[in-house]
Amino acid sequence: MQIEPAARIAGTYRPPPDKSISHRAALLAAMSEKPVRIRNYLRSGDTASTIAAIHELGATIEDHEPSARSADLLVRGVGLRGAHEPPGPIDVGNAGTLMRLLPGWLAGQGRGRWTIDGDESIRRRPIDRVVAPLRQMGATLDCREARLPPLIVEGAALVGIHYELPVPSAQVKSCVLLAGLLATGKTVVAERVATRDHTEILLSAAGARLTVNKSGQVGAATVTVEPLERLALEQVAVPADFSSAAFLIVAATLVPDSELIVKEVGVNPTRTGLLRVMERMGARIELHASHTLDGEPVVDLGVRHASLVATTVEPAEVPLTIDELPLVALLGAFAAGTTVVRGARELRQKESDRIATVVEGLRSLGASIEAAADGFSVEGSGGLRGGALEAAGDHRLAMLGAVAGLASSEGVEVRGFEASAVSYPSFLSDLQALRVRN
Ligand code: S3P
Repeated sequence: MQIEPAARIAGTYRPPPDKSISHRAALLAAMSEKPVRIRNYLRSGDTASTIAAIHELGATIEDHEPSARSADLLVRGVGLRGAHEPPGPIDVGNAGTLMRLLPGWLAGQGRGRWTIDGDESIRRRPIDRVVAPLRQMGATLDCREARLPPLIVEGAALVGIHYELPVPSAQVKSCVLLAGLLATGKTVVAERVATRDHTEILLSAAGARLTVNKSGQVGAATVTVEPLERLALEQVAVPADFSSAAFLIVAATLVPDSELIVKEVGVNPTRTGLLRVMERMGARIELHASHTLDGEPVVDLGVRHASLVATTVEPAEVPLTIDELPLVALLGAFAAGTTVVRGARELRQKESDRIATVVEGLRSLGASIEAAADGFSVEGSGGLRGGALEAAGDHRLAMLGAVAGLASSEGVEVRGFEASAVSYPSFLSDLQALRVRN
């Protein structure tokens, strides 16, 4: 896919539905006894894997008002303890969130056996991070080389634990909380730095006895969940995905004369570290018309082109910016000074090793960027030449390359652009609608 430089980015933009919240809504609906309506469910590769998985586990799904970008689903679940046993493995495809949340539910079934597997990328990503706490709870699990998928889960009787997250991961936190619903006694998950809290918001809406204690150090929290007979969720409305919108927010910031209105995007503070980072860099982003959608804050954003200065992203900001750090590297290439990201070793465990792929990718477009074990540093040179970037099967790399192309002087060929459909199938058409050609 060849992306030519844009003269400017202009218009009004509605980003696609949130991927993290779509996964969670479908899983909790499958764990419910009464039907759950999910409005604005994301249509994408990853969230289609979740629909297929809950169907295998016994849920039935009606897909109303089909549109290319979002679905209105009615899910009839099997209840907290009613997961069926499909004859073959459950295929999560490329979806890391599904790979790590599902074992939390299945481990507590008290019976049954499931194999969870995925694509080549999933098979390279560690799952010992969920195996360890689930084993402490009494779960029976087995995986390849003690750390990789496929994962075999046997339903057991679980007991609540107190678990300190060794790495800041919302996926691990969510997995343990789901298992906690099925355990005896309380389950406590402690995090030293804040990670996205969509699971907590949805579980509270579903009547779970869940408390969050934020005393102590900034960002630190303990989440306590108690066992539950049944979830009581009726309806979930999914807001637009800030992580998807981030690509066009950055494009409008980098391309001169741009002016973009982003409509009704989710701005949960555990997701929007990028806004704080960009504000320090001198970005011109205004927030308007805020409201709340099923517990999630939503706003309209106004974004205009800005000249940028470098910044340092500190370790505590990393989980709040985790999926947008590739975009921080791109912003850094346009900013005056050296932009540094530290404490982001977790990037190496994403759909690709995102320290290696971002550094190689942007360097091949002319950026002056160096990798570190836990991040990178970029020396801003006021722009990017362009060239070819390899997406390495990683949706966020594919879209990073396209945004780089819009802001570059010579354009960018994105190799493996089709990976973008994992989270954002309509990315190219949105970008075409908002770009003004030279
Ligand atoms: C996600 C959490 C993050 C993020 C991923 C989605 C989620 O992963 O990178 O894209 O939906 O919980 P970790 O929690 O493992 O950092």
